[in-house]
Amino acid sequence: MQLQENMTALVTGGVSGLGEASALALLERGLNVVAVDLNEARGAALVDTARQRHGSRLRFVKADVADAGQMAAAIAAAEDLGEFRALVHCAGVGGPLRLVEKDGSPGSLDRYTDIVRVNLIGTFNTLRLAAASMARNGIVDGERGACVLTASVAGYEGQIGQIPYASAKAGIIGMTLVAARDLATKMIRVCTIAPGLFDTPILSRLPDSVRQSLAASVPHPPRLGRPAEYAMTALHILENPMLNGETIRLDGAIRMGPR
Ligand SMILES: NC(=O)c1ccc[n+]([C@@H]2O[C@H](COP(=O)([O-])OP(=O)(O)OC[C@H]3O[C@@H](n4cnc5c(N)ncnc54)[C@H](O)[C@@H]3O)[C@@H](O)[C@H]2O)c1
Repeated sequence: MQLQENMTALVTGGVSGLGEASALALLERGLNVVAVDLNEARGAALVDTARQRHGSRLRFVKADVADAGQMAAAIAAAEDLGEFRALVHCAGVGGPLRLVEKDGSPGSLDRYTDIVRVNLIGTFNTLRLAAASMARNGIVDGERGACVLTASVAGYEGQIGQIPYASAKAGIIGMTLVAARDLATKMIRVCTIAPGLFDTPILSRLPDSVRQSLAASVPHPPRLGRPAEYAMTALHILENPMLNGETIRLDGAIRMGPR
């Protein structure tokens, strides 16, 4: 699918880290962008930054990706801005939990549910609403739209303390092929990126020594990934018509250990 100026992309988690980099890359390519996130302060700052270079082509919509009504409104905002043909879904949260906590108590069911709700249910909710909208598009370059989801290498090699996050991310990996098959007759593609360690606000809160040791654990290149490298992959997926139903590891060959 050739990215064109009359198109609109919706980017969730779009005001920070991987989502923000994707939103900016799509703006650079001339698309209109709806950035969906819960963080209003960062949303306002991004609208300001974007306005200087791209006029009013970026709109911020506050919405919880797991909420049906709020996401339906976000999709409607994307349809208002132009032909909604591209989804980059980055919203996600982590959070520690063990099956049996150090004090012997069972891991919290509420915490597990909360993390799975945002990461997995939020992905299904966003994808179903985006796909239903794209299915109403006319066909351009043999397709009606393309969707990029975000898993994690934790979906393959979840570390101790990551059980809700790892199981949600594995769910997104599991969803990818069936979603692509499901949407094939609608001419909509779905791929997932499974990032390794990326330099985003999540990691910037860690002490420098921890960041350096994480960076050194990446075989090659021995550094944290740059958000622009995620965006480059997301845009390639949107543009390459043969990429479908696949999860692409973007990780410098890292394989996470148990802790
Ligand atoms: N940074 C990494 O190393 C890394 C590695 C693997 C996977 N990932 C995944 O990449 C995605 C982006 O991560 P990031 O590093 O850019 O993180 P980030 O914290 O910088 O950005 C995530 C954004 O999602 C938003 N968000 C959280 N819950 C939301 C909800 N319910 N509804 C709407 N927005 C919500 C947050 O407000 C935030 O702006 C996440 O899914 C994350 O799990 C990141």
